[in-house]
Amino acid sequence: MSHVPNIELNDGATIPQLGFGVFQIDPGETAEAVKTALEIGYRHIDTAEMYENEAGVGQGIRDAGIDRADVYVTSKLNNGVHRPDDARRAFDGTLKALGFDYVDLFLIHWPLPTLYDGDFVSTWQTLEEFKKDGRARSIGVSNFQVSHLERLAKETETVPAVNQIEVHPYFANDEVRAYGQKHGIATEAWSPIAQGTVLGDPVVDGIAKATGKSPAQVVLRWHIQRGDIVFPKSVTPKRVKENFEIFDFELSPDDADAISELDRGEKGRQGPNPDKFDYIPS
Ligand SMILES: NC(=O)c1ccc[n+]([C@@H]2O[C@H](COP(=O)([O-])OP(=O)(O)OC[C@H]3O[C@@H](n4cnc5c(N)ncnc54)[C@H](OP(=O)(O)O)[C@@H]3O)[C@@H](O)[C@H]2O)c1
Repeated sequence: MSHVPNIELNDGATIPQLGFGVFQIDPGETAEAVKTALEIGYRHIDTAEMYENEAGVGQGIRDAGIDRADVYVTSKLNNGVHRPDDARRAFDGTLKALGFDYVDLFLIHWPLPTLYDGDFVSTWQTLEEFKKDGRARSIGVSNFQVSHLERLAKETETVPAVNQIEVHPYFANDEVRAYGQKHGIATEAWSPIAQGTVLGDPVVDGIAKATGKSPAQVVLRWHIQRGDIVFPKSVTPKRVKENFEIFDFELSPDDADAISELDRGEKGRQGPNPDKFDYIPS
């Protein structure tokens, strides 16, 4: 039923290029938000243990009456549980909270290079176990910098299927994206509309007026044409629908270039720098 393109990952699995993100959705409102997204047509949900709403994601899928197999579900390992035994327990907890016996994709949420004696390698090897036993159909990373990816390439057997990183017009993150492109790691662009801050930009606004689309649709379309995977978040049904309607128009190369030129480099980041981030939820 969906007009969303599928992207083939380096392990042969496919992922819908557009999904629905649930960061900062209240746990008590998550099931309803997910059900709404599925009714609109989304078939890809991005959650994390850190968001504390995995249970709502599972419930929303069941409430929508859609087969588990027809929805692509991603979750992520929390920051306090990188040591292998902790990661194994946490992954069991993720599946239990979702109420599923597998996830389509499981990620290391942050590399935390200043914690755990800089060891994210044994954490990655633990995710390799989840892939081998079939409970994670694909495994990947999030917020990994080039140096972190190089280390995994040198010291482990599995190339991550995806790297989920901050990318939007104000922060193009092109060095990490280019590494991914060269090594077969798909880029997932988090905060694709920069949590709304890019929507009032005059360049984006001008293109929106000229194309008859909304600023959010223009920015999401820009990501799609760059080949990245996106999952905008909204608790507003009208916006959830609007964000899904981005496959009936195309940005001209000039318009796409004008949006790319909004890149502010490091200054454009909305979120923390992964080389320094060391937050452990209590
Ligand atoms: N791996 C990581 O470290 C990481 C970090 C951040 C995010 N993520 C993932 O990426 C997903 C998306 O990122 P995000 O939630 O940070 O930000 P985002 O999707 O860029 O922006 C969400 C914000 O934009 C508003 N919005 C959504 N659609 C809109 C539209 N059409 N018009 C106007 N405003 C609109 C939403 O408001 P309302 O909800 O009030 O409508 C919300 O305030 C997350 O949900 C999560 O799955 C991952």
